[in-house]
Amino acid sequence: MTKATSPQAFWLAGRAARGEHTLEVTSPWDGRTVGVVSVPTAEQTEEAVAAAARVAPEFAASPAHVRAGALDHARERLAARAEELAELISAENGKPMKWATVEVARCLSVFRWAADEARRFNGGTAQRLDADAGGTGRLALTRRVPYGPVLGIAPFNFPLNLCAHKVAPALAAGAPILLKPAPATPLSALLLGEVLAETELPAGAFSVLPVPNDAMPALVQDERLPIISFTGSVPVGWSIRDSVPRKRVTLELGGNGAAVVLGDYGSDADLDWAAGRIATFANYQAGQSCIAVQRVIADAAVHDRLVERLVAAVEALVTGDPSDPATDVGPLVSEDAARRVESWVEEAVAGGARVLTGGTRDGASYAPTVLANVPADARIACDEVFGPVVSVTSVPDEAAAFAAANDSTFGLQAGVFTHDLQAAFRAHRALEVGGVVVGDVPSYRADQMPYGGVKQSGVGREGVRFAMEDYTYERVMVLTGLDL
Ligand code: SIN
Repeated sequence: MTKATSPQAFWLAGRAARGEHTLEVTSPWDGRTVGVVSVPTAEQTEEAVAAAARVAPEFAASPAHVRAGALDHARERLAARAEELAELISAENGKPMKWATVEVARCLSVFRWAADEARRFNGGTAQRLDADAGGTGRLALTRRVPYGPVLGIAPFNFPLNLCAHKVAPALAAGAPILLKPAPATPLSALLLGEVLAETELPAGAFSVLPVPNDAMPALVQDERLPIISFTGSVPVGWSIRDSVPRKRVTLELGGNGAAVVLGDYGSDADLDWAAGRIATFANYQAGQSCIAVQRVIADAAVHDRLVERLVAAVEALVTGDPSDPATDVGPLVSEDAARRVESWVEEAVAGGARVLTGGTRDGASYAPTVLANVPADARIACDEVFGPVVSVTSVPDEAAAFAAANDSTFGLQAGVFTHDLQAAFRAHRALEVGGVVVGDVPSYRADQMPYGGVKQSGVGREGVRFAMEDYTYERVMVLTGLDL
């Protein structure tokens, strides 16, 4: 952190504020400064927490139309500033404009869904209790009540939309939220704060605080923040959950997504589609998505023809400047990240892997890479690479394909290319993941569907409605002496 002259404000209990220090945000592509952001002091962070705790009961009781109206406003304003937002995402993250534009569109969808769900989320089920004699004349009514303010901790890889996935459901459910964006990518989150500040949301309903990572343990422990929604690395996520076992903690962590191509998926058109989708989604955002394709598991009947097409499709990807609309693959978030990917590929090659294409680094950029014969114990096989590298494996049949896909400590999403409906159901039953995508890559995500993992990949679900359920509990009221 450095002393600053006119840094960008953060959002403290709904109003713009500045602290004493600043954070410089640089482009991973060319290292230029793309923003200077004010960092909250410990006192300002405390003020935001206290405001969230104070407003929580009032906000939980606020009418649905007020919350939905604020979410509608946010969506409209974000839509009006969509191009600016995409440029900001691309500048701070290095994401190519074509993917930054998709991210903005998805964020609009999250806010649209949140406004709709806010209108629907009344929790009001009624249950007659007179199935037993003691319940005669009694009726149970339920409402969903927020546990309290949410601490949302967002990653760098979707700097806008993964913030939206924390903020929009919280506001829809009537839970105040403190959002902590990733230190590398706070700019689009601050713009989100700006449009929320234009609404009538009560003071304290939201704060966007680019607090340094070393200030986080105290916030995680703070009892006034009973819900934590974290997206990020596996060790940090689980250490948060282990440190606050009595809090409600949602973790969206890593994955090493498998794309399974079954033997029936063998026409030229099938293999062109599968290879194209895998090439794109192993490398979109330079592979920095938890559901990027990392492992291709192909039936031997189609393996060689698929791999030939995959290598060609990967080599056809346009790499380079993320601000160029033609670019498919830009840099990773930092040179350190690219060096790590490079070292993992080198380790796999030393263990016997073959580089079919790629395998080179230039600063923060790593060439889209396809590997074969990766040893099972190489980090590129077992861990989450979070880079533009995919490995291919041939298996004899469907059972071996599903077993290979499950041979992972992660379980986020899997893609299964098949036309066989029964095989699709078998995949849905057998694969140990939070989501199975049939006919496409594991990277498909609609923002309203339940999204989250099993095993090391996390706990809890996002997807607007599902996050609202995670942030709230059912409170029952029993009415007595009714003439039912
Ligand atoms: C993630 O990387 O976990 C998010 C993927 C997405 O939202 O598409």
